[in-house]
Amino acid sequence: MLRVHNVRKVFESARGSYVALDGVSLTISDGEFVCLLGPSGCGKSTLLNILAGFEPATAGNVVFGDAPVTGAGRERVMFFQDAGSALLPWLSTEENVRFALRVRKMPKADWPAIIDKYLEMVGLDAHRGKFPAELSGGMRQRLQIARGLAVEPDVLLMDEPFAALDALTRRRMHAVLLDIWQRIGKTVVFVTHDIAEAISLADRIAVMSVGPGSVITRLIEIDLPRPRDLTDPQVARLFTQIENLLAPDLIRSDERSDVH
Ligand SMILES: Nc1ncnc2c1ncn2[C@@H]1O[C@H](COP(=O)(O)OP(=O)(O)OP(=O)(O)O)[C@@H](O)[C@H]1O
Ligand SMILES: [Mg+2]
Repeated sequence: MLRVHNVRKVFESARGSYVALDGVSLTISDGEFVCLLGPSGCGKSTLLNILAGFEPATAGNVVFGDAPVTGAGRERVMFFQDAGSALLPWLSTEENVRFALRVRKMPKADWPAIIDKYLEMVGLDAHRGKFPAELSGGMRQRLQIARGLAVEPDVLLMDEPFAALDALTRRRMHAVLLDIWQRIGKTVVFVTHDIAEAISLADRIAVMSVGPGSVITRLIEIDLPRPRDLTDPQVARLFTQIENLLAPDLIRSDERSDVH
C-alpha cells in the first residue's frame, strides 16, 4: 500500500514562496491503477516526484508498505514523458536495459533472461541492436517501460508518458500498458491532464484542484470493463462530469451536473 498523508509542498525561491500542494492525502492499494488528473500547474508532477522520493514534502509524508519514503528506491520507478532524454543515446536498446540492471545491482546471472523477458513484453525483441535515435517515439517509450520494469519495481510512477505521441500511437500504448499491468499486477500512478486517457486507464481517478495550494478534490472510481469504449454513453457522461469538475467555466450552466 502507498499512503500519502496530508502532504504539503512549498517551493522557496528568491521571489518568495509558492505553495504547490496543501494537504494532499491518498491511499493506493497494491496493484491499483490510479490516475492523477488536473490542469497544467496544479502539482501533478510535484506529487509524483514526492512519491518517487526525488523531492521531499515540506510537511506530511508518504509511506510505502511500512517504510516512509525518504528517497528514490528500486521499488518505485519513474517514467517520463520524454523517453528520448530518459534513455542513454550511445547504448543500444538491449544495452539500455542492461545498464539499468547494473545500476540497480540486479544479480548478473539473471540479466539475459530479464532482458529477454521485458523486451519481448514491450515488443522490442526484434529491435534490440538499435539505438534510441533509430526508434520511433512509441518504441522509445516502450524501451523506457522495459528498462523500468526490468528492475522489477512494485510501483510504476508515470508522468504523462504518452503525451508527446500521436493519437493512434497513444491508443496503442494504452493497450500495451494495460496488458503489461494486468500481467505483472503492479501499482501504477499515472499523471495526465487528458480526461479520456484517465477514463481509458484508471481504476480510480484522483482529480486535483487548480493551485496554489492544490488538493485532491474528488476520487472517482471507474468500475467499467477494459478496453473502454469512449463513445459508450456511460463513459461520455463520466467525461462530462469530470470536465465540469476541472473547468466549470467552460460548461454552460444548463449542462452542468455533478459527480456523486
Ligand atoms: N522547482 C520548483 N521551484 C518553484 N516552483 C515550482 C518548482 N516545481 C514546480 N513548481 C511550481 O509548482 C506548481 C506545480 O508544478 P507541477 O510541475 O507539479 O505541475 P503539473 O500539474 O505537473 O503541470 P503540467 O501539467 O503542466 O505538467 C507550478 O506552479 C510550478 O510553477
Ligand atoms: Mg507535470
